[in-house]
Amino acid sequence: MIFDWPTRMQQMADFMGFSEEDLELVRASGPILLDRADELTSAVYDHFMQFPQTARFFLTPEGEIDQTRLDRRKHSLARWLRHSIDFRLDEQFPVFLLAMGVVHSNPSLERGYLGSVPARFMIGTMSFAQTAIAGVLLEEMLDPAQALRTSNAWNKLLMLQLDVLLAGYVTETPTPATEPPAPLGDGSGEEPQGVRRVLTNILDGNRTNGNANGASEQTQGDGQ
Ligand code: HEM
Repeated sequence: MIFDWPTRMQQMADFMGFSEEDLELVRASGPILLDRADELTSAVYDHFMQFPQTARFFLTPEGEIDQTRLDRRKHSLARWLRHSIDFRLDEQFPVFLLAMGVVHSNPSLERGYLGSVPARFMIGTMSFAQTAIAGVLLEEMLDPAQALRTSNAWNKLLMLQLDVLLAGYVTETPTPATEPPAPLGDGSGEEPQGVRRVLTNILDGNRTNGNANGASEQTQGDGQ
């Protein structure tokens, strides 16, 4: 795992091909999106309220809509949108994202009875945001090709953010790298063992059905 978050984000940005040009496109779209920020944030929360699994985070313990909490959250989301438009890969941004991830994965005392926001809804919300942003860009930009380029830039940026947001959920199992095994012959005659053997068999098209202990037996699909 990489804990130097700016380096990790840079590595992911390179991997995704998130370039300076993408950054420019995101920034240039700022005025358009900020003009419609209320509509965008309301759309997200209206969406949450349509599903019991997400609406419950905005209900009072008595099951009423908690309007104060909802309004506060709309402001938070608008702030996140502004931060995203001003995105720069510095020391601060990953901290903001990690804190945001932790807020969702670890409920405050006040809303402890609700538990964590399941990580899958963070992913779903990013997807919803990508679609909503693309829709606004297409409506507001005269050149559809420019709208598409800008939307692609936003898609990359939001996935870049999602990686760090989800780290607040500690979704990775930190298995440190070990020394590579010493080469044994040319390796062609060696049988993989354990889980590796099962995976190899699946990838080989299930010709033999090895179990996790390395034993194998003939399958029905083996020409019998
Ligand atoms: C892309 C996904 C999301 C983003 C960017 C986002 C953004 C934010 C931000 C900026 C805050 C304020 C954090 C703070 O400063 O304290 C917040 C809080 C909160 N969000 Fe989200 N959110 C997302 C998804 C969700 C989802 C899916 C739910 C639940 C259905 C949710 C429910 C909440 C709740 C309940 C709080 C209040 C946490 C507390 O004060 O204890 N959020 N969100």
